[in-house]
Amino acid sequence: MITLQVDLGKRSYPIYIGQDLLGKPDWVLPHIKAKQVLIVTNETVAPLYLEQTLTAFHNFQTMTVILPDGEVYKNLTVLNQIFDTLLTQHFDRHTTLVALGGGVIGDMTGFAAACYQRGVPFIQIPTTLLAQVDSSVGGKTGVNHALGKNMIGAFHQPQCVIIDTNTLKTLENRQLSAGLAEVIKYGLINDAEFFVWLEQHAEALLARDSAALSFAIERSCRDKAAIVAQDEKEISGTRALLNLGHTFGHAIETGFGYGHYLHGEAVGVGMCLAAQLSAKMDWLQPIDLTRILQLTAKMLLPTCVPNQVSAEQLLELMKVDKKVHSGKLNLVLLQGIGKAVLTSDYQPDLLQQTMFEGIVTS
Ligand code: NAD
Ligand code: GLY
Repeated sequence: MITLQVDLGKRSYPIYIGQDLLGKPDWVLPHIKAKQVLIVTNETVAPLYLEQTLTAFHNFQTMTVILPDGEVYKNLTVLNQIFDTLLTQHFDRHTTLVALGGGVIGDMTGFAAACYQRGVPFIQIPTTLLAQVDSSVGGKTGVNHALGKNMIGAFHQPQCVIIDTNTLKTLENRQLSAGLAEVIKYGLINDAEFFVWLEQHAEALLARDSAALSFAIERSCRDKAAIVAQDEKEISGTRALLNLGHTFGHAIETGFGYGHYLHGEAVGVGMCLAAQLSAKMDWLQPIDLTRILQLTAKMLLPTCVPNQVSAEQLLELMKVDKKVHSGKLNLVLLQGIGKAVLTSDYQPDLLQQTMFEGIVTS
């Protein structure tokens, strides 16, 4: 078992990473201060892991909310189901919410915790690779709006993150690859050594070699925790680097309809587009562009999207982004592998060209 720390002063918290953590009270007891606990999960994860998880909470008054499964349900209407249970069952402001599931459940539960009675504590128990390496760490919570991905939300840090790597055994291959997109992201942002390791261990990761997966999860969480500790609320621009590929990716997710492309897949395409634009600007060497495209494809991720949605539509959707400042869209681009920068210093015609080339005839 490995324990990492997200250093945020009074809001610091541990990330526990290991096998067989689910259902063990030791990891949750120190982080719950009162009796009431509400576990939020979904209809896919509940039959797999709810019973085991509940055994860790037998000292508490515990109830469960089971939400429908899917990105398409990550909205204010479905979020209300959590508030309905909290209110009808008289949960007070010392209640702890527990997110058991992937990033959708984590983001929604965290947002419910941020809002309920102006803020209650919550615990993240991520069960997808993507949630274990990214969404459960850092306190970004929220839901989608029909006009934009993750546009309604709040920063609200969890009390702890409990990563039981055994849960990955039931994850579909496509979901595993989606998680690997966010793993590649850390290599590209500021960890070139990790990128090389990923090139060398792609097969082991896809084969779910437990040592390789544990290493990738630990390294990703370490890299993310370091960035979050520097810029918790994305003010200085450091944390915005974690959005590499996301401006493109969010437009793809919204444009094709939530759930058509998995979030990680859209981010994978987005990172390839960011790399292509960076190469057009002569910031990224052609050989490094090739390495990025090759590693993405090797992880069984798409590197471009079909033309059901046009480049113009995607460019329009990209304007609905949290990195828009005074009407100007900032992008995260690459000056090398392991050297991401947040910049508005790109040529719009090269961005357009990149988008036209990245949308291929289906
Ligand atoms: P997801 O939550 O939809 O989970 C993917 C699928 O896997 C779902 O069908 C889920 O029910 C299923 N599942 C979960 N655990 C399983 C398991 N152990 N075995 C079998 N099936 C399992 O998707 P995701 O990829 O985990 O998360 C994507 C979401 O995370 C997006 O909404 C994205 O915006 C968000 N996100 C947030 C942050 C953040 O910082 N808050 C970062 C990255 C992504
Ligand atoms: N996934 C982006 C962030 O946490 O900032």
